[in-house]
Amino acid sequence: MSEAFDAVDVIVTKRDGGRLSDAQIDWVVDAYTRGVVAEEQMSALTMAIVLRGMDRAEIARWTSAMIATGERLDFSSLSRPTVDKHSTGGVGDKTTLPLTPVVASFGAAVPQLSGRGLGHTGGTLDKLESIPGWRASLSTEEMTAQLERVGAVVCAAGPGLVPADRRLYALRDVTGTVESVPLIASSIMSKKIAEGTASLVLDVKVGSGAFMRDLAAARELARTMVALGTDAGVRTVALLTDMSTPLGLTVGNALEVREAVEVLAGGGPPDVVALVCALAREMLDAAGLPDADPAAALADGTAMDVWTAMVRAQGGDPEACLPVAAETEEIIAETDGAVVLLDARAVGVAAWRLGAGRARKEDRVRATAGVELLVRPGDRVRAGQPVLRLHTDTPACFARAREALADALVVAHQGPATLPPLVIDRIAV
Ligand code: URA
Repeated sequence: MSEAFDAVDVIVTKRDGGRLSDAQIDWVVDAYTRGVVAEEQMSALTMAIVLRGMDRAEIARWTSAMIATGERLDFSSLSRPTVDKHSTGGVGDKTTLPLTPVVASFGAAVPQLSGRGLGHTGGTLDKLESIPGWRASLSTEEMTAQLERVGAVVCAAGPGLVPADRRLYALRDVTGTVESVPLIASSIMSKKIAEGTASLVLDVKVGSGAFMRDLAAARELARTMVALGTDAGVRTVALLTDMSTPLGLTVGNALEVREAVEVLAGGGPPDVVALVCALAREMLDAAGLPDADPAAALADGTAMDVWTAMVRAQGGDPEACLPVAAETEEIIAETDGAVVLLDARAVGVAAWRLGAGRARKEDRVRATAGVELLVRPGDRVRAGQPVLRLHTDTPACFARAREALADALVVAHQGPATLPPLVIDRIAV
């Protein structure tokens, strides 16, 4: 079959700072998905996009072209209103686990199509797979039935949903082309629009542990995604939230599930509870349930009941013991003082090196690996006090994890005058 364009012409247009036409975008995304545009050509084009950017019309067209490569789900037959949330990725971000049952406990349907770890950030599916028996793959029929009965589903997107993103995501992970507003926005929003949710709440992370480290870039990402969702008929709002410090006190798959269950039992670290409640309020509002009180659902056990039903429905045993690492080591404070910084990216990289993330696509993550935070910014510490606990089944990993953490903790005489707010801003149209 003769092709409408030449991949090299498309690459050169963007390399030289030009605009891609609608026809060029439609062709290149489709031809890459069909295997006609080679991996090295798409890798050159994505790098040109990282360096030259795209305007709003190009991003919207790129997103539509990605959606057109696959199927679209339709939950309009459900008796419950659908609402979803998506995080741009962070360290220790286990909010999906308590949030999904909290929102479903008020009668909404939450179809969480989640991903696996990308770079130093963790993936929700990897976390849930530390629960014995739990399975991430559901057919569309199983997903729809579970949404109607339980209201909550966390599962992997099927192979037919935005196949272009499946290939692009893996390519970007290994070619230094993740951190780009057009590429992140189109990747996330193509999946969310194709998934067919009526409303969407975005958690756009900003700080060292996020893909967007500075506020201006994170704000631009949030605005772009809100505009893409709104134009596609999805009621979309975004919260900009802090990711300079890991969320909660655990980073790593089974460790994070344990913490999420503490939150569902009415306890857990205050920052995790606060973020779950802030996101839940937005989701419930978007679903037409503005008077629902998420904190009450955590306190009275109704969210825990939905969690138990959700885990069971996907073959998991919510009562089973979670796996525990064979070895632990502690990092010790060297001086007295107050913690002024605990760097999220360094902790994410350390957890990854202990086995919580993948070095290559085909690697298996270790459920037990990770880092426990024994202190947080603002806490006072004494020299000799343990500040971090490392968990792994492979003690040879400790040395490289310690290297990643060399400058992660900053202790000073005076603590920070104020801590950054967890929710920095709210973006809506
Ligand atoms: N999450 C996604 O789904 N895509 C990205 O590009 C980054 C985070």
